Formats: sequence, C-alpha cells, structure tokens
Amino acid sequence: MKIINSIRHMQALAIAPEREGRRIAFVPTMGYLHEGHASLLREGRKRGDVLVLSIFVNPIQFGKNEDLDSYPRDMERDFQLADACGVDIVFIPSAAEMYPHGFQTGVAVRELSQPLCGARRPGHFDGVATVITKLFNIVRPDVALFGCKDFQQLTVIRRMTEDLNMPVEIVGMPIVREADGLALSSRNAYLSPSERQSALCLYHAITKVRELFAAGERSVAVLAREARAVIEGESAAAIDYVEFRDGAQLQEQEQADSSTLLALAVKIGQTRLIDNTVLGEEF
Ligand code: PAJ
Repeated sequence: MKIINSIRHMQALAIAPEREGRRIAFVPTMGYLHEGHASLLREGRKRGDVLVLSIFVNPIQFGKNEDLDSYPRDMERDFQLADACGVDIVFIPSAAEMYPHGFQTGVAVRELSQPLCGARRPGHFDGVATVITKLFNIVRPDVALFGCKDFQQLTVIRRMTEDLNMPVEIVGMPIVREADGLALSSRNAYLSPSERQSALCLYHAITKVRELFAAGERSVAVLAREARAVIEGESAAAIDYVEFRDGAQLQEQEQADSSTLLALAVKIGQTRLIDNTVLGEEF
C-alpha cells in the first residue's frame, strides 16, 4: 500500500491505470475509519482495479465553532484498516497542499445545499463540493463510493457530477450500524458511555416512524410528532431537526410515500449526530 502526500505524485500515479484501461475506485474520507468506511472500501475493491482512499479533514467544510480542531485522528489504525480492505493507495494531503495561499475557487450546488444540514451549517456543502471536485481531479476515479449515512451529501455530489459532466460513477452505500442500531460515525468517539446510550434515540425514532409508515400512516405531521416524542423522551438529546422530504429533490412533503426521506440531526451533549432512512427502502 502506497501512502502519498503530494498532489503531483497522486496525479502521476492515476495516469498509468487510466492509460492502461484499468479502473480506479475511490473512497474519500476524513479518517478515523470504522466499519462504515470499510464497507465502502470493500465495495470499491470489487468495482475497481486500483483502490484509492483519501484521508483529509477538509477545513473548508467546517464552520467556525465546529469540531475541526478536535476531529478524531488515528493514522496508524486507519492504515491498518485500509490495508486489510485491500487499499492500493492512501492519499493524505496536508491542508496547505490542498489550499495553498491564494486559493479562491469554489463549487456550489445551489438548491440541494440549502435545507437540512445546509441550513444549520452554512457553507458546509460548498466545502464538500469543492473538495470532492479537487479530489476527483487529483485521483481521476472511474467510480467513487459514498455512504447514505450522509444522504444530503450524496445527493449534492450526484447532482454536481451530473451538472459538471464529471466522468465518475457515483455509488451510494447503505448505512452501517452497530448491533443496537446506532449508525457508525467517527464522531461517536466523542460520546461518553451514558451519551452513547442516549444516542440510540435517533435509531429509535427512525424505527418508530418506519413502523407507523408500515402500518399505513402517511401524514408527515403525525410521523414528525411521533419521531420528536421519541427523541424528546431522552433528556440528554436536543433536536436540531427532524424533517421529512422527498428523497430526490429534498423538497418538503405533507404526505409520506415510499421515497420519503426522514432525516434527523440531534445533539447528544456537545456531539451533533445525524441519521436518516428512506421509508420504503429496506432497512
Ligand atoms: P467521512 O465522515 O469520513 O465519511 C466518508 C464516507 O463514509 C462518506 O461517504 C460517508 O457517508 C461514509 N460513511 C460514514 N459513516 C457511514 C456509515 N455508518 N455507513 C456507511 N457509510 C458511512 O463524509 C465525509 O467524510 C466528508 O464530508 C468527505 C465526503 C470525505 C468530504 O470531505
């Protein structure tokens, strides 16, 4: 497994497989890897001849009062997991390499970046779209894999690749959960043991809504009230948002259907967690 810090070197490595018709599969991450990332890497291993992982805690997608400085890091463990998943190249640039003095260009996916996390984290999806554009230009993948855990991010990236004619196939992968239902996230590392228990309220709210939907309930007002009640029953939890939107355009809906997205953002103590489900999809 090669570990590459420089953009030039990474670009040079990407050109050979491209010329030889070998497919590059790419999994962009911010590191502190877990089984969710591993599921993307294993699928990438199947879909590409060369598997590239990037680890970059992208400063421009963090707000001023967010956790950029405290974001968990453990390179050695990440390299071990990457190696075990069959990664060929780890691209791990510095912030100065990615955003040198004078950097001033950005990519914005306008409407899809507005609601949900975009409304609470202004500029976040511009930061994501910009770094993914750069990474695609550096790694030159044929296929890139993203998790549905970050549903809006996946939606934004799909739109961007289509709008800007980027020659990359985008693959969305299911949410990997702990045995008790908590969606895996690097940020789960922030949770104390009691917060870890409280964090289950996101999953419980999702399960409750799925049950009601399966039993025929279609009113978003009713479903939202029930989801909120589950989370509000947990004293350590503070709702950031509980929203029902269509899974394609992320528009608000009054009546739920099988493509409706339930998206949650909840603060457990100081830690903001997100989770989601598409009501008609397998769980
Ligand atoms: P990060 O949070 O490290 O996530 C990297 C990828 O792993 C994303 O596509 C995310 O959706 C996926 N992922 C995270 N948790 C998952 C889970 N429990 N199940 C399945 N997939 C999961 O998302 C980012 O980094 C960044 O915004 C990035 C795209 C790298 C741009 O900086």
